Amino acid sequence: MADFQNKVALITGAAHGQGRAVALALAGEGASIVAFDLAKPMPYPGYALGSESELDSLKREVEALGSHCLTAQGDVRRDGDIVRAVDAAVARFGRIDILFNNAGICAYGLAHELPEEEWDAMIDINLKGAWLVARRVIPVMIRQKSGVIINNSSIAGLRGMNRLSHYAASKWGLVGLTKSWAIELAPHNIRVNSIHPTGVNTPMNDGLAELEGTTTQEIAERSAGNLLPVPWVEPEDVSAMVLYLASDKARYVTGSQFVLDAGLLTR
Ligand SMILES: NC(=O)c1ccc[n+]([C@@H]2O[C@H](COP(=O)([O-])OP(=O)(O)OC[C@H]3O[C@@H](n4cnc5c(N)ncnc54)[C@H](O)[C@@H]3O)[C@@H](O)[C@H]2O)c1
Repeated sequence: MADFQNKVALITGAAHGQGRAVALALAGEGASIVAFDLAKPMPYPGYALGSESELDSLKREVEALGSHCLTAQGDVRRDGDIVRAVDAAVARFGRIDILFNNAGICAYGLAHELPEEEWDAMIDINLKGAWLVARRVIPVMIRQKSGVIINNSSIAGLRGMNRLSHYAASKWGLVGLTKSWAIELAPHNIRVNSIHPTGVNTPMNDGLAELEGTTTQEIAERSAGNLLPVPWVEPEDVSAMVLYLASDKARYVTGSQFVLDAGLLTR
């Protein structure tokens, strides 16, 4: 335990789902957590996003694990919100060792029917948001001469998906960012990788099921065929991968795509 003692992790989309699981796993290993989340409803994608009360309860759970937690309500599309969170993190903890670029939305829509606003929201949150956050964190990591960035893409960042072209475009975009940042930042001892989960059992899939008038299991199975006999993986499976990538055990791993797909992309 305590592999991450004296480390500081900034996690976007931390209020619930995968971000929360990663925050708790890192806190359990001694890391201080900066939990960034919109923490309020948005009309699009139309399902429940994280809330202020979830951010508050995350802080309490992190503290119960003996770690520190700074919460920051903000939008990954707003530079002012990001600067405030990064400045507060550096003022409180002096450094940022790990950035988990995880905030994201998902929604269905055929390309020829998508309103432009939906395309823009998808790309602005999932792709541009990751860059906006990294842009403010990277200088802190360069000063430290160390850091790890993990971008949460998806299997949709490695294949096409029906009625999800805007989502897939944002997730393929994260691969481009990952590989390019790995090149730019290697001289500063900063590693950058992306992860690519299949369906994960989080509020996102519950929300999509509600909007589509179906079950969460059907939403997960739509992505057509995990090889292993599970409809989805759990947020804790994601945190196990993130903790490996964030740790010194992965000290020479950078610019890579880590697939967590229960075998889906095999065929
Ligand atoms: N759930 C899946 O099946 C799945 C599979 C592969 C990849 N992903 C990706 O994993 C990431 C996390 O997904 P999840 O399943 O935990 O989803 P989720 O909807 O359960 O949680 C996402 C969190 O991000 C926050 N968020 C959304 N927009 C934001 C914004 N503009 N600014 C700040 N925070 C914002 C939400 O409030 C929420 O707390 C997303 O990028 C998603 O695309 C999800």
